[in-house]
Amino acid sequence: MPCRHESELIQLVEEAKKVTGEGKIADYIPALGKADPDDLSVAIYHIDNTCMAAGDIEKKFTLQSISKVLSLALVLIDHGEEYVFDKVGMEPTGDPFNSIVKLELLNPSKPLNPMINAGALAVTNMIKGQNSEEKVSRLLSFIRDLANSPNVAVCEETARSEFETAWLNRSMCYFLKQHSIIEGDVEELMDVYTKQCSIEMHSLDLAKIGAVLAMDGLHPETGRQLIPKDIARLCKTFMVTCGMYNASGEFAIKIGIPAKSGVSGGIIGLVPNGFGIGIFGPSLNNKGNSIAGIKLLELLSKKYSLSIF
Ligand code: DON
Repeated sequence: MPCRHESELIQLVEEAKKVTGEGKIADYIPALGKADPDDLSVAIYHIDNTCMAAGDIEKKFTLQSISKVLSLALVLIDHGEEYVFDKVGMEPTGDPFNSIVKLELLNPSKPLNPMINAGALAVTNMIKGQNSEEKVSRLLSFIRDLANSPNVAVCEETARSEFETAWLNRSMCYFLKQHSIIEGDVEELMDVYTKQCSIEMHSLDLAKIGAVLAMDGLHPETGRQLIPKDIARLCKTFMVTCGMYNASGEFAIKIGIPAKSGVSGGIIGLVPNGFGIGIFGPSLNNKGNSIAGIKLLELLSKKYSLSIF
């Protein structure tokens, strides 16, 4: 793995931290507003099971939109590609992650991809289970296996905070229900979705999940094939084309690795057959991506020629 010396990584984190002041914490989910804007931490988990870290990696953060890659993997495992892509498309969008506009403009009214909120809500609607508890527990147990950590759990405070304020996501659900993209009770779906987004972990857990994707679904620690290879490939492709929302093109050019961000300031990244990266830096840029996290990935990619292109 490229970053052998911890001091090099610490130096890069210090350098990247300089831009935290130019960003802003997401506070449309009130619980996220409590984060410290100056935070920046990173863990790098190599597929040979060695790890590098810098910053305060003891701090936990919620996955938010990073969870969209994992819920997608789970429903693809459960239902197969045909079923899933009948309801959600495969195309990137230039619109923000929470935009509703294309749903009405497109015919059929199908979310463009599973990484924007509309598509992710449709995906979460496909998680198997008799009720919301079963669905959340199924997803949680899948994510615990990916992180190989039984401590990964839902942050109930963040889930409640989003549940009580997610009016735009609710509107999208009703629109999608009208157009038969989702079925069932919208409040139950919102319960599952807000808990999914509030799954909380450390950067090292996230880096390990990145390492699983770097190994095409095989867990480097447990040796279990947790995601079939073709599904892992599909998830990584979505990460490249849509993972950083309407900044995915610039990210592919400047950094060039599969990655997915969340409004909590988390970013998962990976270098195929190399390592997984877990970043937490809650100050966000105007596209909703961690401003210092992106800076750090830029520095890492440049220094170690990480781009897959
Ligand atoms: O649905 C929402 O708005 C959040 N739970 C997740 C959004 C998110 O993380 C977008 N990320 N950049």
